[in-house]
Amino acid sequence: MPLTAGTRLGPYEILAPIGAGGMGEVYRARDSRLKRDVALKVLPQHLASDPQRMARFEREAQLLACVNHPNIASIYGLEESSDIRALVMELVEGLTLAERVARGPLPLNEALAIGRQITEALEYAHEHGIVHRDLKPANVKLTADDLVKVLDFGLAKALSDELPLADSSTSPTLTAVATRSGIILGTAGYMSPEQARGRAVDRRTDVWAFGCVLFEMLTGKLAFPGETATDTLAAVLTKEPELEHLPASTPASIRTLIGRCLQKQIRRRVQAIGDARIDIEDCLIREEFGRSCTAWARQYSRPGNEKAGKAMASFRDLCRRFRHDYGGFPCVAAQTGTSKEPGLDGRHDCRSKHLDGATHFSRRPHSRLPGHDR
Ligand SMILES: Nc1ncnc2c1ncn2[C@@H]1O[C@H](COP(=O)(O)OP(=O)(O)OP(=O)(O)O)[C@@H](O)[C@H]1O
Ligand SMILES: [Mg+2]
Repeated sequence: MPLTAGTRLGPYEILAPIGAGGMGEVYRARDSRLKRDVALKVLPQHLASDPQRMARFEREAQLLACVNHPNIASIYGLEESSDIRALVMELVEGLTLAERVARGPLPLNEALAIGRQITEALEYAHEHGIVHRDLKPANVKLTADDLVKVLDFGLAKALSDELPLADSSTSPTLTAVATRSGIILGTAGYMSPEQARGRAVDRRTDVWAFGCVLFEMLTGKLAFPGETATDTLAAVLTKEPELEHLPASTPASIRTLIGRCLQKQIRRRVQAIGDARIDIEDCLIREEFGRSCTAWARQYSRPGNEKAGKAMASFRDLCRRFRHDYGGFPCVAAQTGTSKEPGLDGRHDCRSKHLDGATHFSRRPHSRLPGHDR
């Protein structure tokens, strides 16, 4: 039964419902001791009323409570009061990625910036032996200051181990509310082929789900659509993602990345999420470099423009960062043409933006670029 405002669970006072998912209801609540708002996830009754299962769940929750990363919503603890058990979590304000994608596809830079933070969260969790198993846009929150927080880390395992009939490979949503088809459909679309088959899963299952999420951010469409959960699972097992639905402006490296995350054969898939992070970072920095080159060149080519100095300074910073991080510069230069910038040789005419087809950095540490001594 839903809890009403004013209900107390230990030091927590229910303020308002936030939503409901596979496991039950989530509420905003006030922690009267620490004077802060938290999110309370009320656990399903069949779990809460079984002491043995609760003890095991508690052990899992303790493990998850040790996770500490800016892109992962923290678990504060478990609260028990009469027959109600609730997981106490960091309250993350803002839209879910599912709500954001429902408004339409995201621009490339926004999608990549969100994708990068999701890979950071997954990489950290994987390094600590935790697989998410239920990554989907509904489990990703976007805060007002552009921070991404991944919710429900590891809860799929914590719960599926406890549920009757549960296959440890499936998500809590599929096992806990097998009758709520809308929710099942919502989760089935992100299940890896091995999860859909009920086989053992590992961190590469999160790589698959990440590929689905990145595809959806860029296209506004599910990577594996289906009218029913069964259709969706069939698509996951038999169909290839329609990469041609990606916007024409999607860089080749990102198309390749999505294709490699969505390889049905585990051994052909991207093996570590950190590799996806590197691809995204390279792409983001190439885009930034190109934008900065264009802005700088535009300002610089107008003598007397007071913004020229500022543009030049920020371009110098970028070049320095590139030299430091990459030992070179991205391949953005036109091969022909001359530059008005005395420190820039003709092969590096930054007025031309030749980024789209570039998939690799050209490491040319000896290239002469403005703001560099050599
Ligand atoms: N820590 C949190 N802070 C703020 N909102 C949250 C938090 N946890 C969950 N929510 C919100 O509560 C709602 C229900 O979440 P819940 O996790 O139960 O469902 P779900 O994510 O749709 O499915 P699943 O059970 O597979 O995770 C969602 O809208 C979610 O964004
Ligand atoms: Mg959730």
